Formats: sequence, structure tokens, C-alpha cells
Amino acid sequence: MNRKKIVAGNWKMNLNYAEAMALADAVKESVTDDQQTHIILAPPFIYLHELVERVQPHTVVAIAAQNCADKNAGPYTGEVAASMLASVGVDYVIIGHSERRSYFREENPVLAEKINRSVENSLVPIFCCGETDESRKSGKHFDIVSQQLEACLFHLDKSRIRECVIAYEPVWAIGTGVNATALQVEEMHRCIRKTISEKYGVEVSGNISILYGGSVTPQNAAGLFSVPDVDGALVGGASLKAGDFISIINAMEKVATQ
Ligand code: PGA
Repeated sequence: MNRKKIVAGNWKMNLNYAEAMALADAVKESVTDDQQTHIILAPPFIYLHELVERVQPHTVVAIAAQNCADKNAGPYTGEVAASMLASVGVDYVIIGHSERRSYFREENPVLAEKINRSVENSLVPIFCCGETDESRKSGKHFDIVSQQLEACLFHLDKSRIRECVIAYEPVWAIGTGVNATALQVEEMHRCIRKTISEKYGVEVSGNISILYGGSVTPQNAAGLFSVPDVDGALVGGASLKAGDFISIINAMEKVATQ
């Protein structure tokens, strides 16, 4: 399987304008177009348009939004439509991040609509799934993640789901400094691929990139990237420092070219 290798940086609600541009420039200068690893930068909405232009002409660097509206257009103050993101050249959109689920009460039905708006507008969703500490302790983590996939993605037809990227992000590992172990990641990524293959077949599931996210650092990246079924990472905190993010990209590139 020749799955796309991806290192995505989720900047969340961080960085002022000058800091954001400097970080994007540093990342852009560190990559070459013949590398295997695709880089995705997910800045706050306000920087998206400029960053799309700034990272050109690179073919390996793309820009993602961190969210989009579940509606097409209309009187929804403060919302940003998927069509607007597409119209300024954004390629990806993160859907279902645990911070959206917990702080903004986004549940599976609304996330399924956001997925629809994304794919209708040719944006690639980076769909986040993952269990809480509580559900892992009660042994329900595989069920929870499978349910998230089924509720938010499994209404898509084959041609659409194969375009999606999935990010497994255990809630207890996000921003905590405690990453999932290689074994935990391997088991969950295998479960995700199996769940997809039961619905869509092995050819589709074998081609979907599954990223790991949750306290990825330059120190643990190489270990996580060598886990079977891991096709890259969705990085939060460590994506805000150019040196750290570039080290993580380099770790992915090393594994991808082995
Ligand atoms: P973290 O965040 O790398 O800071 O844990 C990951 C994420 O929220 O995507």
C-alpha cells in the first residue's frame, strides 16, 4: 500500500500574525518537493488565505482549516462555510477535534454534516476520533472509536471515504505530555482499518491515511512512526516551534524512505 504520509500541525488558537508567517516560512524552507512526507499547516481562520499563497509553489505543503460550518451559507454569525475555505485555496479541514467536541458541544450528527459540507466542496476532512481516559479504563475504547467512525463517516460512499484522512487522538493524550504507547496506537489503528474494511473493503481501507495525535514530540515521533498502520501525525503543541515540527517531519521522512 502506498498511503500518503502526512505530518499536520494544528496551531489551535495560538500565534499572532507575525509569528504565524514566520513559522510557515521556516517550515516551507525546510521541505523539498521530492520528499515523501506531505505537510499540512492548520492555522486559525484569519491566516488561511495568506498562508495558502505563502506556501506556494510547494506541492508537498497544504493548508487546513481547523473547523467549518455544518451549514452551506446564511445567517450564522461567526461561522465559516466549507465553500469559503475552498474558494481561498484551502485543501483540508479538521473535523471532530476533541476540543470542538468538548468545549463547543459538537456531537456526531453535526460532525457528519460538517463532513458532508467538506466533501461537497472538495475539501479533504481530517476526521478526529478518540476515547476519553474513562472509556479506556472501562475497556470501551475500541467501541467508542468505531461508533465515531460509523456515525460521522459511514454514510459516505466509497469514492468519498477514500479521500478522507483519519486522526486517532486519544483525548487523554492531547496536550498532556502523555502520548499513547506504541502498542496502544498499533491496536487502535488496526481496529480503525478493520472497521473501515468491514464496511468498504480492504482496498479502500488500505489506502486511507491514519494519523496519530496526542503529545507527539521530536523525542517520541520516530517510535510512533515505526508502528504499523501509522501514516503520520497530527501535532499540536510541538507544531508551534519550527525546530520541533521540522524534526517530526524529518522523523516521518526517515521512516517513509526506509
Ligand atoms: P498535542 O495536540 O500535540 O498538543 O497533544 C494534538 C492535537 O490536539 O491535535
